Amino acid sequence: MKSVRQYFILITKLAFCTLVFQAGIAKSAEVNVYSHRHYEADDALYAKFTKETGIKVNIVKASADALIERIKAEGESSPADILITADAGRLVRAQSAGILQKAESKILDKQVPANMRDDSGHWFGFTVRARVLIYSKERIKPSDLSTYEDLADPKWKGRLLARSSSNIYNQSLLASIIANNGKSEAIKWASAVRKNMARPPEGSDRDQMRAVAAGIGDVAIANTYYVGLLVNSSNPKDREVASKVGVYFPNQKGRGTHVNVSGGGLVKWSKNKSNAIKLLEFLTGPAAQEKFPVTTYEFPLQISSTDSDLLKSWGKFKADALSLSKLGELNSEAVKAFALANWK
Ligand SMILES: [Fe+2]
Repeated sequence: MKSVRQYFILITKLAFCTLVFQAGIAKSAEVNVYSHRHYEADDALYAKFTKETGIKVNIVKASADALIERIKAEGESSPADILITADAGRLVRAQSAGILQKAESKILDKQVPANMRDDSGHWFGFTVRARVLIYSKERIKPSDLSTYEDLADPKWKGRLLARSSSNIYNQSLLASIIANNGKSEAIKWASAVRKNMARPPEGSDRDQMRAVAAGIGDVAIANTYYVGLLVNSSNPKDREVASKVGVYFPNQKGRGTHVNVSGGGLVKWSKNKSNAIKLLEFLTGPAAQEKFPVTTYEFPLQISSTDSDLLKSWGKFKADALSLSKLGELNSEAVKAFALANWK
């Protein structure tokens, strides 16, 4: 027979064990994200996720290539559960580096259109960005514009602006041209566009728009959300640039405008796998999808389903339905084509 005192000790021990167990659960309710995205608005989304699920989100921010290298170096001991970056080209690069694993989730498969995720579940798009033609409202009528291919026409001599070919957005655009028109046409195109440039490639997407507003060139290749960032900038000079440029979605009568994603994948050595999948589901789900267009001016995965007045003001458009995995597969061909075209 146990004494009252022995029962008391036993109950105390049990209570202690329960506390330790609960502390263990509380400690595991977290997810570690290595992110290339640098938007404050993303932090608000993570906070909302934590509020809804109790799962704490720890973020490490750095460039995509640095994060990929870091995960490779950390290997099995990597604390990273999710890698987030912009551009399918980089997501495929991470997949090829062997640092991602399949995330099996019917919710992800349903929420992310098939062409905006890896077939085998190694990465998923969260937001869509269109690489469009940004034109001077003073000097260009939308009817002067038509396709990416048309930018190769000599009528554009000295009038085009684009950033360097080392930029992944341009590499993915050229990869889409290789996929649609073939390698030799893509080299010819890049070479002709390079010859039509108003100045050698330099600066960021926003700098190309600034150059259009300053009259250096008439048409720039840039991503739509940068227009949103200029429109909503706290700097009046940026807002002035935004007021002088228009957004044109090329190739509407054909394959549609080139689009890309920002997205993420489950890291191969994730220790918080189910929490990580929950976060991927959240970022591709309705609550996050309705936020991206109004905070970072990116399109949601269902492109036309946005309520954002700014995004709607650019007009509805048809997106190229090419599987974005192709952009990664053709990345090295695109880099070679740019070199052959002498597009620095
Ligand atoms: Fe960007």
